[in-house]
Amino acid sequence: MQRIVEPELMDVAEQAEAYAQGDFEDAHRRIVETFESRFPGVELAGPVLDLGCGPGDITFRFAARFPEASLVGVDGSAAMIALANERRSRETGLRDRVSFLEGAIPGAPIPARRWMAIVSNSLLHHLHRPAVLWQAVARHAAPGARVFVADLMRPASLEECGRLVDAYAAGEPEVLRRDFYNSLAAAFEPGEVRAQLAEAGLDELQVDVISDRHLIVFGNRR
Ligand SMILES: C[S@@+](CC[C@H](N)C(=O)[O-])C[C@H]1O[C@@H](n2cnc3c(N)ncnc32)[C@H](O)[C@@H]1O
Repeated sequence: MQRIVEPELMDVAEQAEAYAQGDFEDAHRRIVETFESRFPGVELAGPVLDLGCGPGDITFRFAARFPEASLVGVDGSAAMIALANERRSRETGLRDRVSFLEGAIPGAPIPARRWMAIVSNSLLHHLHRPAVLWQAVARHAAPGARVFVADLMRPASLEECGRLVDAYAAGEPEVLRRDFYNSLAAAFEPGEVRAQLAEAGLDELQVDVISDRHLIVFGNRR
């Protein structure tokens, strides 16, 4: 089936709020576990960038798991960054190593640093031009930096999108079920992501399908 794009930014306050309230406990725990499984024994230290950080849950999880890392979350939605900063004010043990920056890629004012890792969850499928994510990775990741991008994978049909929503978001509010459905339809197939990486000169990164609806891109920057 053809990709059906959705709005890039989640900048409606109610939508951002509903997303921040969603139950992503298992899914986000698995993101960090999957990172660890693809980079066995790695102890991240230094600056780490989280692109499309939303309300910051993944950002805080990486900060909690890697005490030598300093996380910067970037998102183009003012509503999401406000929620991330609200949470930061509550995270007294982590907030010194976590900060958030409002800005859409391309063009977000990402500071020039030796970024030792770039992580991103569920951003790629939002992008109308997916190349902007890979260009940001190519530009900001230090040589040898860990790159880890996780996202949804587009099913073969809209019926299959509906089936996945019923299977995995049965008890969620309608707004989140609709977002999930639209996101599945907007996501990329593994072959499309491989082509994007080749186009961006990032062939060192690998694409793995990790579930019936998720793929990851990972590897060390050349
Ligand atoms: C589905 S949310 C994922 C949030 C977070 N990474 C998580 O896993 O909970 C996608 C986020 O990407 C942001 N986004 C979309 N396009 C963007 C862009 N071009 N630059 C920066 N952020 C963007 C949206 O505003 C939204 O907050």
